[in-house]
Amino acid sequence: MTAVPTRSTLPAGFRWSAATSAFQIEGSRDADGRGRSIWDDFLEAPGAIVDGSTADPACDSYRHPEVDVALAAGLGLDRYRFSLPWARVQPEGRGVGNSAALDHYSRLVDLLLDAGVVPFPTLYHWEMPSIVEADGGWLSRDTAERFADYVGVVADRLGDRVAHWYTLNEPAMTTLQGYAVGALAPGRQLLFDALPTVHHQLLAHARASQVLRDRGAAQVGLVNNHTWVLPRHDTAEDRQAAAVYDTLHNRVFTEPLLAGAYPDLEAFGLPPMPVQDGDLAAIAASIDFYGINFYNPTTVTAADAASPIPFDIVPTPGAPVTGFGPEWPIMPSALHDLLIDLHARHPNLPPVIIGENGASFPEPDHAGRIDDTDRIGYLAGHIAAVGEAIDAGVPVEEYTVWSLLDNWEWADGYTQRFGLVHVDFETGRRTPKASYDWYRDLIAATRPAVVTKGSTR
Ligand code: FCB
Repeated sequence: MTAVPTRSTLPAGFRWSAATSAFQIEGSRDADGRGRSIWDDFLEAPGAIVDGSTADPACDSYRHPEVDVALAAGLGLDRYRFSLPWARVQPEGRGVGNSAALDHYSRLVDLLLDAGVVPFPTLYHWEMPSIVEADGGWLSRDTAERFADYVGVVADRLGDRVAHWYTLNEPAMTTLQGYAVGALAPGRQLLFDALPTVHHQLLAHARASQVLRDRGAAQVGLVNNHTWVLPRHDTAEDRQAAAVYDTLHNRVFTEPLLAGAYPDLEAFGLPPMPVQDGDLAAIAASIDFYGINFYNPTTVTAADAASPIPFDIVPTPGAPVTGFGPEWPIMPSALHDLLIDLHARHPNLPPVIIGENGASFPEPDHAGRIDDTDRIGYLAGHIAAVGEAIDAGVPVEEYTVWSLLDNWEWADGYTQRFGLVHVDFETGRRTPKASYDWYRDLIAATRPAVVTKGSTR
């Protein structure tokens, strides 16, 4: 197993977190006047969810937030990453907030603060109100303004106690999986016609960032999914295919955020972004940190000439895999390499936060104690990779495990368990796994030694 970093290799003040998202844990989809979201629509399509499940009751967290807070506090986390669903706050996709929903999240924030854990909410973890999607969703520029309006409603209620915010979760997945190929909500299959959703999401993030800063936020960023792209063969064709995929997955987001311009899309025969005056300046000035979710590298090869897209994603040779099989190869060095590469491209990189990292492995539905050494190995390897990137000068300040809890894994329903804590979805019973204890002990070991009165150390 790769060496686990201790306080000698991670800088003082390095922060530890764990994450969840609302739709994946909350259940109670009809509670308190919640509006419909694109995930309520998507999960009803025949065959859309592999086990035919709905996200209700999931972990039943809407009714019992205090149970999750106790588990987060028990780890000794610095921060807890959770999300607010737009369709609970604005059931009609606009207007004054739903007070019952806002009361709920206000209570969650208070529970966290009382437990000594800093609340670190995400304002959009993929749950577009259906009514906003019907007006064009992320294909429409106006959605950026509507999102900023929603963010203002949340900030007016929570901004007195919440200082750190993620705006959007994984805009790359929304564009690629949600609008280009349709594997996630809203299930559109627009291929390259999905590209305007990149710009409209970045614009929404930038508008939201302004709203949050105007209300005194200390730290605003977004968190994107990143992959490290490997050509399958060392040929010009596969290298070109890798460059196109890297551009679509990673660089259409990093370059406007970190360097104020889109990559040259026309060089790859891709359509330009619908940029208007002032957009790029607003986007470039919008982040106080850059969030990276990392799970796996992606190996690509050139596609047949007849294919509508120029690359095929293929298994990564020689890599062990997670519960998703060859789709999710395990390669911690890929996280190290992408952090080093990002820093080399953007030497003035703002603080980096690893906003998600983790793995699913096959585990029983009804558990007692689970000795998940495979998950511990995955996490230890990736944390060590982060430690090495920090040693090489990459300004990573925080690491987040996905996930605190087993939960409803989108189109994979209840079939993929990512939690540090096992959840029995029939009874709601939570059982910490061996990885929970391991992460708690790692966090404790990286804290500066506490000097107590009379102590000589
Ligand atoms: C990420 C999502 C998160 C979870 C993990 C496994 O892409 O942000 O909600 O599904 O994958």
